[in-house]
Amino acid sequence: MVRLRPLWPWSVVSTCMQGLTGRNIVVTGGAAGIGLATVQFLQSEGANVAVVDRDAAAAEAVGVPWARADLSDVHGWRQAIIENAEALGGIDGLVNNAAWVSGEATPLAEQDLDDLAATLGVNGAGILGATQAAAGLMSGPGAVVNVASLQGTNASPLLYQYGTAKAAVIHLTKSMALELAPRQIRVNAVAPAMTLTAAVQRGLSPERQAASIAAIPLGFAAEPEDIAGTIGFLLSDVARFITGQLIIADGGLSLTTARPHRGEIA
Ligand SMILES: NC(=O)c1ccc[n+]([C@@H]2O[C@H](COP(=O)([O-])OP(=O)(O)OC[C@H]3O[C@@H](n4cnc5c(N)ncnc54)[C@H](O)[C@@H]3O)[C@@H](O)[C@H]2O)c1
Repeated sequence: MVRLRPLWPWSVVSTCMQGLTGRNIVVTGGAAGIGLATVQFLQSEGANVAVVDRDAAAAEAVGVPWARADLSDVHGWRQAIIENAEALGGIDGLVNNAAWVSGEATPLAEQDLDDLAATLGVNGAGILGATQAAAGLMSGPGAVVNVASLQGTNASPLLYQYGTAKAAVIHLTKSMALELAPRQIRVNAVAPAMTLTAAVQRGLSPERQAASIAAIPLGFAAEPEDIAGTIGFLLSDVARFITGQLIIADGGLSLTTARPHRGEIA
């Protein structure tokens, strides 16, 4: 496990974000990783939270209202948002955090067209359907945050499917923000770079993690709580004049083409 900086628990850091207390917020993919950290952050700010996830056991363990659904079933996904909103007694916020990624890093010549069509379709329609459902039920001001990725703005070799799916998330964010602005519903996106969820820590060797971290100007990778805080900010009234925007949370990774050795800039 790579931990370069101590992280204060939310109970120690009081952020007191305006406009989260008593708000009803649905988090997709809220049973693990960034989604779970977001649920915990929102609860610590006094919000009522519900979760949509395909992992029923993990969702149950979160201890909030939840509905089981898989993003690949777009109509079931939309219905699960509605069920969650009913369980909360209304909905003020939505976090489109779950992603469906079928493509591995694959050269152009080996790209499976059906796979690409499915990846773009499922992720795009999932965000569209969930936001359609949530916005349809919002009776006053509201906020939606979509979780994109640095891969949606910057290309990585062979990651065609993940990158284009995340680029679509960023564009959908802008389109929905424009349409929903007159109703005071804000739509924004967050683009994390490598975030040390349990799944990432399991999937990347310590050497790969260390190499990735060495390229980050701030010198550490995000914890799920770092991304959760950014999502919480965008949901809160502190961000009431911000809509259609992408916040890149990457420790400065996208700022420069230089990749100095940490020792050179200490
Ligand atoms: N972790 C990173 O380094 C990183 C970097 C950039 C962007 N992101 C994005 O952040 C979001 C969350 O990623 P994470 O790393 O926290 O993931 P994670 O694997 O830790 O957790 C994902 C959660 O979503 C659920 N989920 C996954 N696929 C689903 C599906 N098809 N239907 C319903 N639920 C599903 C899982 O059960 C799990 O609870 C994703 O959109 C991901 O693309 C993550």
